[in-house]
Amino acid sequence: MSKILSSIETNILLSNDDCIKAMQRLHPESVDLILTDPPYNLGLFMKDRDTNLKKMRDNFFGAAGWDDLDFAEWEESMNKFFIESARLLKKGGAMIVFMSVIKVETLIRLAEQNGFYYKTTGIWHKLNPMPRNMNLHFVNSTEAWVYLTYKKKTGTFNNDGKMVHDFFETAITSSTEKKFGKHPTQKPEQLLQQFISLLSNEGDTVLDPFMGSGTTGVVAKRNYRKFIGIELNKEYFQNAKKRIEETKCNKTNCGDNVI
Ligand SMILES: C[S@@+](CC[C@H](N)C(=O)[O-])C[C@H]1O[C@@H](n2cnc3c(N)ncnc32)[C@H](O)[C@@H]1O
Repeated sequence: MSKILSSIETNILLSNDDCIKAMQRLHPESVDLILTDPPYNLGLFMKDRDTNLKKMRDNFFGAAGWDDLDFAEWEESMNKFFIESARLLKKGGAMIVFMSVIKVETLIRLAEQNGFYYKTTGIWHKLNPMPRNMNLHFVNSTEAWVYLTYKKKTGTFNNDGKMVHDFFETAITSSTEKKFGKHPTQKPEQLLQQFISLLSNEGDTVLDPFMGSGTTGVVAKRNYRKFIGIELNKEYFQNAKKRIEETKCNKTNCGDNVI
């Protein structure tokens, strides 16, 4: 991986590394939109549950970084993420961060401390959630997302005069979108499409520092955006790379490069 990207000569840059280290190697003010879904750090919370959430957690979430941290460590990690994000975003750039509702307040505080302007907390509703423990309690069918802009109170918002609600509904990720390998928290392409279209323009650079299976990269490439994706886990990284490589982009400037 080149130490610093002097310019984004190729349009897809992928890094199998810790996101803080990789972000530190990128050029300041080079990103238009950060669209990301960091670990929610619910590992310890789930470990203590006596339902089969414990099993799910041990199978899936235990392998991911930042998921078993105590609260102070997680907060410190997220603060470093905001410091680097603030360095990389252009003035007026935007950020969408998925997060569990119980962490949203902390996330907004950290963002504001690092120069972000808080815009919206929205909800993604899953139309067909896993019916896990449905006879014990409410079925978990929602996730929150937080919308922030950097150093300006407004940024790109391509709504074409139409009202856009802070509530998106889609089905959970289909098996066809998982054909390169399973990721426990893979987001549906249809969901991320809404954010890419609304909050960025063709030719803009989109960054996902926690790219997982690469969904942000797939949608960014399909929509003629440049993309920088970072993923710590080797297996997820390889799957994301294959998935993004396979994505069709009909314009001539859609190069791939692994940094
Ligand atoms: C919630 S998942 C992202 C899922 C993604 N939105 C998708 O559609 O596949 C978070 C990802 O962040 C990765 N991760 C955790 N800590 C990381 C770190 N320090 N640097 C880079 N990636 C990290 C995990 O391995 C996991 O794949």
